[in-house]
Parts: sequence; structure tokens; C-alpha cells
Amino acid sequence: MDSVHLMDRMHDTAGARVVGRVKLAARPSAGAVCAPLAYDWQTMATYLDHAATTPLLDCAREAMIGALSATGNASSLHTAGRGARRRVEESRETIAGALGVTPSEVIFTAGGTEADNLAVKGLWWSRTAEDPARRRVLASRVEHHAVLDPIHWLGEHEGAEVVWLDVDDEGRVDPEQVSRELSASPGQSALVAVMWANNEVGTVQPIAELAELCSEAGVPLHVDGVQAVGSIPVDPTLPATLAISAHKLGGPLGVGALVARRGLELTPLTHGGGQERQVRSGTLDVPALVGFAAAVEHTVGDMAHRSARTQALRDDLFARVLEVAPGSIVNGAVGGLDTRLPGNAHVSFPGCESDALLMLLDAAGVEVSMGSACSAGVPEPSHVLLAMGIDPVRARSSLRFSLGHTSTAADVDALVEALPAALARAGRAGQVRISAQMAAAARDGG
Ligand SMILES: Cc1ncc(COP(=O)(O)O)c(C=O)c1O
Repeated sequence: MDSVHLMDRMHDTAGARVVGRVKLAARPSAGAVCAPLAYDWQTMATYLDHAATTPLLDCAREAMIGALSATGNASSLHTAGRGARRRVEESRETIAGALGVTPSEVIFTAGGTEADNLAVKGLWWSRTAEDPARRRVLASRVEHHAVLDPIHWLGEHEGAEVVWLDVDDEGRVDPEQVSRELSASPGQSALVAVMWANNEVGTVQPIAELAELCSEAGVPLHVDGVQAVGSIPVDPTLPATLAISAHKLGGPLGVGALVARRGLELTPLTHGGGQERQVRSGTLDVPALVGFAAAVEHTVGDMAHRSARTQALRDDLFARVLEVAPGSIVNGAVGGLDTRLPGNAHVSFPGCESDALLMLLDAAGVEVSMGSACSAGVPEPSHVLLAMGIDPVRARSSLRFSLGHTSTAADVDALVEALPAALARAGRAGQVRISAQMAAAARDGG
């Protein structure tokens, strides 16, 4: 939907157009050039959903503005095309340099979901083509749907034998189970998929240990690094493939990369112009890549300082939320960067439904999440919390608060101020619902 259509649908009384709390510039008069979109995070509500997407960094915005006015398809041979190609390859080098891999290992995609799909299905098809006996896929139960769903699909349509790896009550995979499963059927595993850090509860997985086990067994390990890169130390040379996404680290939406070890065979999912090592066809979005590169360079370079600051804010948030909501329960691991993402806080509020709580907080100007943005809106308990052994009722009473590079102490203050009233109202609504359910059950003779 373009901005003018959006503006058509939403007006405030003074004639300015308001979408949520984002004020849009006045509608351009007929014949005028497209008006700029005023997008000022300062005017927004308290934003505690950085794990869903985090604001564009100034350096990324500026780099993109410069690239947006340049014409050129990076596959064209003339001067404009070569200029576009140069910007693409410079972006690739910047990202590779920041991550510590070689540029040829960076395959650009249209985001984290595509990178995960390319890794999971691409590895499956290349590994089974080499040896049809490799039909097993090992994956953690707490993967994002971008990994979970292609694996389910492989099970349903390609005859993959999926082995789901359990997690403990903090959401961590047990390397011993991985070791057992790999040695139970030698030569029969196509791939292993375990994310670096979980998007809902922030738990960090023992990737170094898992990479070693997979390497010993000769099985490629795919790691979804979408939430981890830029937040915690990540060594992309450990797994065979690593998915990253620009908009989670201050770059633009709709662009990402799969870091794939040199020499690794990946069957392409899209066919066409053969861009990106013949693995991922499609004309490259040069301005987005330029913004992605600026964001990765800045975020990875600044990580130690920013993560320490974010973690201090998050710990303050935990302490103060537990103070104003004494019955609440923290979900996930407790500890430093090796155990939990610094910006992640995940809490259950027994007696309250998370969707009601989310809307009440939103009405009070505090934006939070029920978990993964991709599955938000679906009123089912989170598969991550269920895998951690949390019961469905408690799972449905949980919220994720995620902090990032624009977060301040004032954001924590705003949450702590809004929470008690939201909890009281959501609790009353929960009581009414439970009474209605009990009355219905009694009516039905249940
Ligand atoms: C862990 C994880 N993997 C993959 C994705 C999908 O990334 P993208 O939004 O770039 O498609 C997300 C997005 O929420 C995520 O958190």
C-alpha cells in the first residue's frame, strides 16, 4: 500500500494524516512531486518491540538515500550497471569484513525468511541428491517459523524424517541429544538446524559445541542468526550456513543474506538470471544492500558498548516489572550475553490474557509483543513456551518486551507506569471470561 493510500484512510481532525502515532506529511497537491514521509521515532509511543523490527539507523538511511538516486541494474554491462555492481560488491565486502568471512560467502536474499528457506531446502536437495540415504533432518523445537515450516514441508512433501530436538526449561538444546541422534544413524542425516538465539525468549544456544558435533559427523549445521548478529558475539565460520536479516539490526526491511561456507552445495530455490552464485536469482536491490551494509558495519562494530547498555536497561525492566507485578514470572535464561539476548525480556502474567494486555498497553502508548511478530495475531500458545514445558494457560499470559538501539530509561519508566492498570483490567476481563466458560460448561453438563 503506498503512503498516499494510507493517508486517504486515516485523518485526524486538523487535517493532518495520522497512522498510529506516525505523522505523515501533508498530501501532495495535484502535480506536486511526492511529499516526503516524516517518520520520527521521537514522536512515537514507547517502542518495546525491537525484536520484531528495529528503527533504521541514520547511517543506513543516509547510505540508502545516496544510492536511491543512482540508476543501474547490477547485471548490466554498461557504465550505470557497473556502478550498481560496484555498490553491490562494496556492500558484500563490508558485510563480509564486519562478520569475518570472505565476500564470496555472502549470498544476498530478500530477508531472513528467504535465507532460512534457502539453507534448509537448498541443503536438503543437494545432500539427498548426493546420497538418497540422507533423509533425516534434526531441528530444535524452538526454531522460528522461517525454519520450522520449511522443515515441516520437507517432511510432508519430500519424505524427510524429522527429528525434533527437545529444549530444557530455559529453551536450550542439549548437545548430548544431538550427538546421540547423529551417531544413531550415521550417514543418514541431511542437515541440522538450530538457531543462534531465540526470538521469543532470547535464549542463546551452544552453537560452538553443536558445530563441532556436526563437523565430526560430516553433517551441515544451519544456524538462524537473525536475532543474534549485532546483539551478541557470533562466529559465522562455525556453522555451514548462517541466516541474517537487515531490519533486525538497523537496516531496511526486505533484505538479508545467507552466509554459506565456500564450496558448500546448495540447490537453488529460485531460477532466473543466475545472480548470487547461481543460487539465488533476481535483480538485486542496490539501495537496500547499501543500507544493509552500513547497518551491519555499525551494529557489529558498536556491539559491545550497545549490548552492555541494552542489557542494563533490560535488567532494570525485569526488576521493576517484578516489583509492580509481584505474581509475574520471567521466562528464559538468566545471565549474560552467552545465555540470553541483551534486549530480550519475556514475562508471564498469570490470570491475564496476553492479547488483552497487549492492546491495553498499546492504548496506553506502550508497544510490546506476544512473541514472534510473525505468529502474533494467531491466538495459540507459543510453540517455544510449550517446548520449554510451560503450560498453555501460562503461555497465553506472556508478553515479550524487546529493547534496542533507540531504547532509553524513559521507555522502561513508561512501561512500569502503564503496567499496573493494564494488568488490573486484563485480570478483570480474564475473570469474566473464566466465569463465562465455567457457566457454559455447567450448562452443557460438563
Ligand atoms: C529468529 C528469526 N528468524 C527469521 C526471521 C525472519 O526474518 P525476516 O523478517 O527478515 O524474514 C525472524 C523474524 O522475526 C526471526 O526472529
